[in-house]
Amino acid sequence: MKARVEKIFQHLEKPVDAIVVANSVDPHLDQSFFYLFGVPAGLFEGAVAIAHPDGKLDVLTSPLEAETAHQAAKLDPHVAIHTVPREETDGFVKDLLGGAKTVGLNFRELTHSWYLILEKAVPGTDWVDVSVPIRNARVTKDAHEIELLRGAAEIGSKVGREIPGMLKTGMTELELAAEMEYRMNRHGASGRSFATIVAFGAHGAEPHFSPTSTKLKPGDSMVCDFGATYQRYVCDITRSFHFGPRDEEMKAVHDTVEKAQAAAFATIRPGVPAKEVHAAAAKVIDESKWKGRLTHGVGHSIGLVVHDGWGYGPNVADPLVEGMAITVEPGIYIPGKGGVRIEDDIVVTKNGYEFLTTAPRAYIEVAA
Ligand code: GLY
Ligand code: MN
Repeated sequence: MKARVEKIFQHLEKPVDAIVVANSVDPHLDQSFFYLFGVPAGLFEGAVAIAHPDGKLDVLTSPLEAETAHQAAKLDPHVAIHTVPREETDGFVKDLLGGAKTVGLNFRELTHSWYLILEKAVPGTDWVDVSVPIRNARVTKDAHEIELLRGAAEIGSKVGREIPGMLKTGMTELELAAEMEYRMNRHGASGRSFATIVAFGAHGAEPHFSPTSTKLKPGDSMVCDFGATYQRYVCDITRSFHFGPRDEEMKAVHDTVEKAQAAAFATIRPGVPAKEVHAAAAKVIDESKWKGRLTHGVGHSIGLVVHDGWGYGPNVADPLVEGMAITVEPGIYIPGKGGVRIEDDIVVTKNGYEFLTTAPRAYIEVAA
């Protein structure tokens, strides 16, 4: 992935001789390893990527994924694979660094034990934090990344359309979450991109609720926030539904969140400070009777992980940039009553944005 290696080097404030990205054990895998290497499958615990200023990438893998690594490297002449037993990795890193004096590390992701190993293996090196340049390179997506994000979003959107047909009186939040995750895998996901949120009734007032054995009953509204992983890239989608006889307040809440989301979409184009996207949604909510009930920032970057290093709220002045893939997810949360969040994934384009997620956003009331 020469272009991605070069993109990170272009984002550096001060030059470095090389960048080392090292994985620990799952879940402490630095997704920047997969950004640099682009291998779509395999676990790669303990693997290391060494990126060089000329765009070349050395990848050290254990024998466990050697075949997958070699297959991926066949498509990329700038990648050299070294199959190395775990206990010899540090010696290889030293050799491949070839006397580099200043080496960049992803301080946000590198484990402390890896840092100690590197210090011991290559003493005297000036280790520099390059986590911000890595994040800044990753925040705008290339065409292949957008294709994979779209693949993930299509899966999430299919399941979003299917949720109304899954609802049955007496089913638990955990059962619905399990069914949604099963369907994502049936539609081609390798797994979920984060722990699925299903929140019935009053539970919907907590944005990051963890599903329980609470049973669905007629009259409940619900928030379903979920995402698929597809060839390592993710989606993040939320739909809110109502089950059984209409609740006029929750319908009005949903209408307001829809308006807030539409107002946020209307601001999106390159150059717009991200806080303006937030402010557009917040204004609609704060002018309604649910003033102050939007309790989080309106979105975040998505990519190899669901919270891909950047997010926006009322104070984030960073301008939107073509190629950013972000969520737009306003919500209203009413303690003791419930909540509504509508979340979609979009890509910022030259003149505006394109949707990745496509499931209907309008209020769906499901007969009990
Ligand atoms: N999907 C959960 C969140 O964005 O916080
Ligand atoms: Mn989200």
